[in-house]
Amino acid sequence: MKIALASDHAGFPLKEEVQTHLQSLGHEVLDFGTNSTASVDYPDYARPAAQAVADARADLGIVICGTGLGVCMTANKVTGIRGARCTDEYSARMSRRHNNANVLCLGQRVTGVGLALSIVDAWLVETFAGGRHARRVAKIETGHQH
Ligand code: RB5
Repeated sequence: MKIALASDHAGFPLKEEVQTHLQSLGHEVLDFGTNSTASVDYPDYARPAAQAVADARADLGIVICGTGLGVCMTANKVTGIRGARCTDEYSARMSRRHNNANVLCLGQRVTGVGLALSIVDAWLVETFAGGRHARRVAKIETGHQH
């Protein structure tokens, strides 16, 4: 798969770990930065990565900051993006199976690298169940009720 990857300074070390891991699994990584621990603003990095997913230039995206919150809020402002901040493997699996999440949001200050990579693995192998979940996911975009 082609995976868009981005972080701010607080997520940079984990981004590098995730990038190495994804490449070792044979995935192609589109790295949207940042490229050091120098302080930056997370929307400047999370938004272009999320936009790449929305534009189908990437299959999925992974965005990282200190908590995973700022990058997730940013990603979810992009039309067509369903960003899921996950701190456990179960939520990661379910975000794909039931919510068809297309951007995974991680927090380096919250989740250790070993668990973070397990979350990435769980998230990547899961697929969307469709059916009633497709109806519900469609309502996220349209805002329609019932
Ligand atoms: C940076 O200090 C921090 O605020 C940022 O990485 C992120 O956690 C914001 O949500």
